[in-house]
Amino acid sequence: MTVDVVRTEIVKALSSGNFVSGQELGQQMGLSRSAIANHIKTLSNLGLDIFKVTGKGYKLSSPLIMISRDELAKRLSTSVCSTNLINVLNVVGSTNDEIKRRISALEKGAVYVAEAQTNGRGRRGRKWVSPYGASIYLSMLWRFESGYESISGLSLGVGLAVRRAIAKSGFDDVYLKWPNDVYINNKKLAGVLIELEGQLGGATEVVIGIGININLPMGDLGINQEYIDLQTVMGRHINRNKICAAIIEELWALLQMFESSGIAPLIQEWREADLYLDKHVVLIAGKERITGICRGINETGALLLETNLGIKAFHGGEVSVRPDQSATT
Ligand code: ATP
Ligand code: BTN
Repeated sequence: MTVDVVRTEIVKALSSGNFVSGQELGQQMGLSRSAIANHIKTLSNLGLDIFKVTGKGYKLSSPLIMISRDELAKRLSTSVCSTNLINVLNVVGSTNDEIKRRISALEKGAVYVAEAQTNGRGRRGRKWVSPYGASIYLSMLWRFESGYESISGLSLGVGLAVRRAIAKSGFDDVYLKWPNDVYINNKKLAGVLIELEGQLGGATEVVIGIGININLPMGDLGINQEYIDLQTVMGRHINRNKICAAIIEELWALLQMFESSGIAPLIQEWREADLYLDKHVVLIAGKERITGICRGINETGALLLETNLGIKAFHGGEVSVRPDQSATT
């Protein structure tokens, strides 16, 4: 058994949320109690919410149903994504990197999901906090037959796919912050990271990464802005396999539609989801700060900002939007 498989088996043995002693775990895995203790320490450092009571053993703070290909397959309609495109891993650096490493061997639509990321990434080298078993970390590979221009607005469409998947679970009040963030109650729930992997022949290869908080551990996670998880919002246990399958389905459907029609048919839906529509914002582009009122997006997915000089379109890349605290909306 590899180290990663041992750790997966330990988590499975604890997944019911009951106490399991170090001795029992050791017997199951053919390892000493101190080897088990070391694996538990690593899992805890990866963010798994686990504790020990002397005389009783180890226990997860709440039961954990691990993400599995079988559970996803049960929920995916066969017309969408064939099961052999789905790969469920345990601990990885970044699911986007798992795709990039294998990209030449992968089919369009290949999906990588993991239980934890040690190097989860946001835009521009920022960190995506990715504790073990607490969220969904998912990446999908897509190939667009035409050039880069055909994918403009893609991150906005992917945000809508995430929103639609959450709506399927019975929650509608999900908002999108241009270009790539998903918000509930003005707090960040999920993010989208799209990376272009150059052009293969005429096709544009795109790695689409989605991180969505489900049941984050308590305490200081080192996230330097307000955040939320789905379990807190819904006030009940969330089945990660169900949400993950819904995201794969919605993403697949969205990408197929996007391939033929781009962002244009989604503009109205995006307006309904727009966190800052008609609100005063500050747009940050490098050292520049531009204040204005958000007026939605145009047919290429660019942000429309109304300033004293009229309405101007801004494209993604290096631009961030923040509420303008000095203005009254
Ligand atoms: P923008 O994309 O507009 O610049 P942003 O500040 O949210 O917005 P991103 O690169 O989109 O930046 O996301 C990375 C940021 O998200 C991190 O700098 C951190 O503030 C926050 N963050 C990191 N991990 C999480 C998480 N698990 N849940 C919510 N927010 C997180
Ligand atoms: C953001 O808000 O900037 C984007 C966060 C994207 C996080 C996801 S988790 C799966 C995939 N792997 C990564 O390293 N990042 C994305």
